[in-house]
This record gives sequence, structure tokens and C-alpha cells, in this order.
Amino acid sequence: MSGKVTFIGAGPGAADLITLRGARAIGAADIVIWASSLVQAEILEHARPGAEIVDSAALPIEGVIPYYERAAVEELRVARVHSGDPSLWGAIQEQLERADALGLEVEIVPGVSAFSAVAARAGRELTIPQVAQSVILTRLEGGKTPMPAGESIRSFAAHGTTMAVFLSAARSGRLAAELLAGGYPQDTPVIVASRATWPDEELAWCTVGTLEQTVKDRKLWKHTLFLIGPALGSEGTRSHLYHPGHFHGHRRAEPAARAALREADQTAVDHMTVGHTTADELVGGNGDHGAGPGQAK
Ligand SMILES: C[S@@+](CC[C@H](N)C(=O)[O-])C[C@H]1O[C@@H](n2cnc3c(N)ncnc32)[C@H](O)[C@@H]1O
Repeated sequence: MSGKVTFIGAGPGAADLITLRGARAIGAADIVIWASSLVQAEILEHARPGAEIVDSAALPIEGVIPYYERAAVEELRVARVHSGDPSLWGAIQEQLERADALGLEVEIVPGVSAFSAVAARAGRELTIPQVAQSVILTRLEGGKTPMPAGESIRSFAAHGTTMAVFLSAARSGRLAAELLAGGYPQDTPVIVASRATWPDEELAWCTVGTLEQTVKDRKLWKHTLFLIGPALGSEGTRSHLYHPGHFHGHRRAEPAARAALREADQTAVDHMTVGHTTADELVGGNGDHGAGPGQAK
């Protein structure tokens, strides 16, 4: 047996948004490292009596590595708890590499990211057929972490789809200016969420035109996420997935409904700018479910 580090996504705040697997990994740990600034203390109730609890809120990575070194020597289990989903701005890659170099077994347990939590709290779907079928997860350039070339908010805004912007509330004026420069109309819906799912959560609906004032009026500058895009204000167009004319690996299409669906799709295609997507892809797709028996994909 060797020591092990499990990186656990604790979710956006509310303690019961951790996964069962994450809670079990905390329960199995000899050392639980968590950040009191980002994760609610209730998650520590999953820790076993006698587990060593370390608050990493004020620690640089150098303050955490000694626990990994000890885990390697003493064959201990470490639960390293991160907010949201650890794959997004979690700074886990450098820790994974250090743990690996120490010969520790490593595992990652995914978590509920802030962007999905905010969509849930706002009661919105982020992908609406024929309105937005992509979600861009990003942050504003010009912060402490430089952005790679080609990843500006302005260039992403040009897609006009749904965007989730993290880590950017302190520069809301610049954010709004970049969104407008990229082509979102002033009245594009925006949800501003601060500390979503925490007891002091704030959720505000505004537009790209009123985003800066909304943030300033509420004095938001950290722990805030923006959801932006026309999907937030659109009525749900009927999705293919639950349409009787749509088929997939588990369901056959009703022929009359199928014909009606194809006709409606063709009409929509005629009215859309399809970019690189071919009309065939739009009208003939059957989602991710695979073709049904005897039905060509
Ligand atoms: C270092 S990133 C971590 C993101 C995290 N890994 C995730 O998947 O949500 C921190 C940023 O995530 C966003 N964030 C995290 N939790 C949030 C919450 N409960 N409400 C609003 N925004 C949140 C904010 O933009 C914050 O500045």
C-alpha cells in the first residue's frame, strides 16, 4: 500500500452539494485539507473522529506539500477539498504532479461547478435549441493570471452563445465593455451571482448594459459569477430529445411526428446562419444516443 491523495470537488458552497463519493473520500482520510474561505465547514462532518484537519485558506502550495510528503512516508490518505469542480481554476495540476513525484496514488472526484449551481439557482437551462448550443467557461483578461492569445472575452462574445465568466467581478466595467465590443446587444440577459448556494447568496438579473451598475450597487468583487447570453431570456423551444419524432438507441420515432419534425427543422435551418454546420447535421442528427435498431444514424 502507498499513501494516497484524493482531490475532491466540494461544490459551490452548500454542504450537501458534495457528491457521495467525495463525502466518502473525506470519511476515509487521515488528513483533510480544506479552505475555510471557499468551502462550508459542515463538510468536515464527513471526516472520521481523529482525522487531522488542516485549513489551507492562508497556505501557499508550499504549506500543503509537507502533508503530501508525510502521507508518502507514513502511507496516509489525504483528502484535498477544493471548491466547485477541481478541473476548473482549481490549481490541482501542480499538486497532482507533486503527489505523483512523491509516489502517491492520486484520484480526482468531480464536483458541482459554480456555473451549474448558478443556472440551477436562477432556474435556467444554458442550452436552448436554435438559440445557444455551447457554453463558454472563461474569465476576463487583465487579472493576475495572464490569458493565452486568442482567449479574449471580446472574441468569445462574438459567438453570441451562453458564457459563464468566473473571477472577473472586480473589473465589471471592463467586462461589460468587452462583451459589448464582441457583439452582444445591450439588452442581452445577464445573471450575476455572488456566493451562490451560501446562506448570504445574492442573485441579480440584469443586462449587459446594466451589468457594471448592478455589480457596483451591490459592491460585489469576489466569489461572483456571470452567466450571459440570449438563452437566459429565451422561451424553451421544443428539444428533439423528448419529441415523439426523434429516435435514439432506446426509442423509435413515430413516422408522422418524424416527418413533421424534419419539416420544422428544415424551416429553422432556412432561417438560421448555419456557419460550418451543414443542414444535414441540423436536420438529421439524433443526439448522443446512437441509432436505434434498423435506423441509420
Ligand atoms: C478559483 S475559481 C474556482 C472555480 C471552481 N472550481 C468551480 O468549478 O466553480 C473561483 C471563482 O469561481 C466562481 N465561484 C465559485 N463559487 C461560487 C459561488 N458559490 N457563487 C458564485 N461564484 C462562484 C467565482 O467566479 C470565483 O471567483
